[in-house]
Amino acid sequence: MAHHESTYNPQGRWAKWWDERLPVARLMNTQFVEFPTPRNLNYLWTFGGILTFCLVAQLATGIVLAMHYQPSGAEAFDSVDTIRRDVNYGWLISKLHAVGASMFFVAVYIHLFRGLYYGSYKAPREILWILGVFILLAMMATAFMGYALPWGQMSFWAVTVITNLFSSLDSIIPGLGTSIVEWLWGGYAVTGKTLTRFYSLHYLLPFVLTGLVVLHIWALHVVGQSNPTGLEIKTKADAVPMYPYAVSKDAFALFAFLLLFMWFVFFAPDYLGHADNYKPADALVTPSHIVPEWYFLPFYAILRAIPEKLLGVLAMFGSIAVLLFVPWLDRCRTVRSARYRPVYKWFFWLLVFTCMALGYLGAKPAEGVYVFWARIFTAYYFIHFLLVLPILGLIETTKKPPASIAESVLGDVASADPSKAS
Ligand code: HEM
Repeated sequence: MAHHESTYNPQGRWAKWWDERLPVARLMNTQFVEFPTPRNLNYLWTFGGILTFCLVAQLATGIVLAMHYQPSGAEAFDSVDTIRRDVNYGWLISKLHAVGASMFFVAVYIHLFRGLYYGSYKAPREILWILGVFILLAMMATAFMGYALPWGQMSFWAVTVITNLFSSLDSIIPGLGTSIVEWLWGGYAVTGKTLTRFYSLHYLLPFVLTGLVVLHIWALHVVGQSNPTGLEIKTKADAVPMYPYAVSKDAFALFAFLLLFMWFVFFAPDYLGHADNYKPADALVTPSHIVPEWYFLPFYAILRAIPEKLLGVLAMFGSIAVLLFVPWLDRCRTVRSARYRPVYKWFFWLLVFTCMALGYLGAKPAEGVYVFWARIFTAYYFIHFLLVLPILGLIETTKKPPASIAESVLGDVASADPSKAS
């Protein structure tokens, strides 16, 4: 699995006995203790660990919530209220889960943009990146289905709007879209049947997600971590063991992240949600303004920017699918990191701005000037990936990176006297 030899030496008879039969301790030691980590990682490299924490926290809180939640149209809303009022610490567990979903997305977006900035997706990390995109899709599907479960007004109408998107396929094969929508609903309208199947899938998908994360981390440990210079580890001086160096940095970052997380949980538990979800689902009353959770807003803006329904749906799914091809769309082969790409750097920040602008526009009504700007930013989003990345990669004059990771941290001292670099 790893590209370095294990120096694990089991102490005592019991440890030796295990090691000869099931070398789990050896595996953990090789992969998470001795594992060579670039010595120059900054705090953006702590988000993988933070994400792993988020996943475990969502699973733990979700499993407890599932013990009290009732997945039927008649009982769901009240059961969520009962969890908040009558279950011991139910208010805390339910808020940890709801706020936790948002924090998970905060972390995943930082993690993803880190990858785009430092070119972490470039060879040999293409599979690692692609697994990341599938993880993102699984997270989105899980979050969407989870949002349906409280069965409030926004839950109900979000399910109605999003499942209805599939009806756009009717314009390719008449009847196909409608059949798919009815199949998803389990009937001719969004009902308690729809809720029950969403609950089943909301419980299943996190385990698929966990499987994808295991593959993601496995792939990472085959190729090793990249770093802000984008250079590979060449000598011992370029790396430090994962424990205690990277682990303590990860722990510190996780602590800071938890401060923000807990601030929301204890001081603004409803800030990231929508007030309408405190009203029970009502098929006869459409909210004046249906909005998804904040982390879906950029995609929602893309969907509504395009007047033709099918094209809007294709653009929305396309905005994620395009990420799968980034390792090949980016033609810059001389360096990985934007540190040495003076022009790409600006386009990267333009993309960040574009995504934020789309997020803002997704929360606004789809009319007038908002639609105009949503179209401009949607166009740039695709131009960035389909034109800027390939063309810039070929024509940009990149800067010369340092000779090694060690040199980027220690200056010439590392190359002049390797003993100083240990
Ligand atoms: C549940 C979600 C995820 C988890 C638990 C996770 C976990 C991790 C971990 C532990 C690392 C190593 C530490 C680090 O570099 O921060 C990592 C690296 C990486 N992840 Fe993820 N990840 C997730 C989602 C994603 C997504 C959505 C993408 C991109 C689409 C992605 C792309 C990458 C890449 C390219 C690296 C290597 C970075 C480098 O070494 O420069 N990951 N991930």
